[in-house]
Amino acid sequence: MKILITAELPFDIEGYLKGHELDYNKGKQLSAKELAKRAEDADGIISMLSDKIDRELMESCKNLKVVANYAVGYNNIDVQAASELGITVCNTPDVLTQTTAELGFALMITAARRVSEGDAFTRNKKFKGWEADLFLGMDMHGKTLGVFGFGRIGQAVAQMASGFNMDIIYSSRTKKHQAELLTGASRVSFDDLVRQSDFLIITAPSTPETHHKFTLETFVQMKSSAVLVNIGRGDIIKERDLVKALENKLIFAAGLDVYEDEPKIDAGLFKLSNAVLAPHIGSGSFATREAMAKMCCDAVTSVFKDEKPACALN
Ligand code: DGY
Repeated sequence: MKILITAELPFDIEGYLKGHELDYNKGKQLSAKELAKRAEDADGIISMLSDKIDRELMESCKNLKVVANYAVGYNNIDVQAASELGITVCNTPDVLTQTTAELGFALMITAARRVSEGDAFTRNKKFKGWEADLFLGMDMHGKTLGVFGFGRIGQAVAQMASGFNMDIIYSSRTKKHQAELLTGASRVSFDDLVRQSDFLIITAPSTPETHHKFTLETFVQMKSSAVLVNIGRGDIIKERDLVKALENKLIFAAGLDVYEDEPKIDAGLFKLSNAVLAPHIGSGSFATREAMAKMCCDAVTSVFKDEKPACALN
């Protein structure tokens, strides 16, 4: 079987997938045209979240049976079209939950306590000794954490936050009874989430329902002391509006791992000292990225053996 792997992964893919024909892209990211050309005769694809796997691409593949996306989010793949074409789509849930939640937590702390600003200040040799009002920030303990999208990652963040003595609220389409018991979280409306949160973390996927859910109208309703973090998908926030909100101090700070039009980032964000910007590294620990790669390989080979992988989305 021929497997196209669209980017180099931190795992011995060649050793693990011995016996299969590999088209392993170890160079720069494939353009849409290159991807279509190399996918044409592939039986399986291990894709990245930056690869657009749409109907047109899948229709042009003669042998394609499975696409394993090296991410938990799969908004880059037309799953409906894949189902109609008999192609199995898989992602990498569970293995990255804690790691991604940890990055979310890191962004909350960094933005609230102005760690990046302090780091730049110290490196620039501006630190002249202790000062009573140097880089004052926001406490987390005793504050309210709002979670938008209370799935696996959102619940993991909530569990960490309960250890920080935070009150947790969430907004989600359905009530999550078990997670409420574990974290003490309570479900509120979206408007209450926005108004009551001292920290608001977005862990939701990109869907037509979540697209541009956070706009200037939302930021106006938030506390001016609030910290907003996004580890879900960039298009959930209207980025231009967030720049305006941060410029005008409608909220205290933001920590972002994802952007509306990746890899492009609104230039306004670069000018803001109250924005902490990470380069989409939510799942980026050595162990997790390796586990994700292994999971993708197993998913592809299971489909070749006519077995349904546990992580199949269709
Ligand atoms: C994913 O895997 O979808 C996340 O963006 C983790 O970084």
